[in-house]
Amino acid sequence: MAYKILALKGDGIGPEVVGEALQVLRVVARNAALDLEFKEAPVGGHALDQFGTPLPDDVLRQAQDSDAILLGAVGGPKWDSPQADKRPEQALLALRKTLGLFANVRPVKTVKELMPASPLRPEVVNGVDLVVVRELTGGIYYGKPSERRRNGDAREAVDTLFYSEEEITRVLRYGFELARRRRKRLTSVDKANILASSRLWREIAGELAAQYKDVAFDNQLVDSMAMHLIRRPRDFDVIVTENMFGDILTDEASVLAGSMGLLPSASLGDELNSAGCRVGLFEPIHGSAPDIAGRDEANPLAAILSAAMLLEHSLGMRGEAESIEQAVEGVVREGYRTRDLAGGPGTKMVGCKAMGRLVRERIENVEG
Ligand code: IPM
Ligand code: MG
Repeated sequence: MAYKILALKGDGIGPEVVGEALQVLRVVARNAALDLEFKEAPVGGHALDQFGTPLPDDVLRQAQDSDAILLGAVGGPKWDSPQADKRPEQALLALRKTLGLFANVRPVKTVKELMPASPLRPEVVNGVDLVVVRELTGGIYYGKPSERRRNGDAREAVDTLFYSEEEITRVLRYGFELARRRRKRLTSVDKANILASSRLWREIAGELAAQYKDVAFDNQLVDSMAMHLIRRPRDFDVIVTENMFGDILTDEASVLAGSMGLLPSASLGDELNSAGCRVGLFEPIHGSAPDIAGRDEANPLAAILSAAMLLEHSLGMRGEAESIEQAVEGVVREGYRTRDLAGGPGTKMVGCKAMGRLVRERIENVEG
């Protein structure tokens, strides 16, 4: 039986980078005699222009019917007006919520050869290997009321940060289980000195820590965490935090790796797919980069590594995922760079397509 993979390429550089990632998946599938059925559907600004909504019902149904989803990026200046009531980003929020993808897993690992691309000193970033688990279907992104309104003549607006015990518990539990499979350290990040939701978060984190005694546990306030993350990033293994804190900290963490163009992500729920694995949505953490769209300049490695995460988390194929990761590392070690990564002696600049091809060739040479 074929596994159903839905490609939502989206806007900007999304189509280019997902195009390369899909070709990598095809090569891996062929080598592993794995039956994958690919479908594509419009999402984000494109869908908004064509169908008047960033996530047409039919696309949402296809997403619900898939074993895994590979997404590029959504958004761009064309749809950015603060007054607009429909925005490309709503597609992402609706997909996450409807599919129940509460755990957003964002690994950050430094590659020695890319250290010059990081603004931080090599002795700080060398050897960083951490994962941020960001809660993805709750918090201030979804709490009600969330609206703009009038108070007499003045404008005002409100957003709400709400969390239930269940929402907090399941994402922290995911983090503790992940920590068990890694270096057995978990840092829970909150703002418990100010926010009631964070005090509940911290209470539950402490209760779970007592059940996972083999995992070294600590709490950090999000503001000091922002500092520790760039001062001593090597000390962290698994970091679990609420939706908006995680959004901010993961952009910061991307600096450690040298470029956003390298960082993949997985958004996972509890629901199982036809492979008996978690249903997931996989996407690079970079955005749609409209300024370089269509120019064959984008870095496809984050999308390709997202495809590797898809194989691991939604199809249970850790070995195949590793072969992609090793191919990506190999290509970087050989000195190939897209424009987002610093050049330097011995490096060879390539475009998006060439980078994708290099990764595929490497996979084929190793396996063939
Ligand atoms: C991310 C992005 C999204 C978010 C936007 C595009 C809605 O920044 O995935 O980190 O805020 O979650
Ligand atoms: Mg973000």
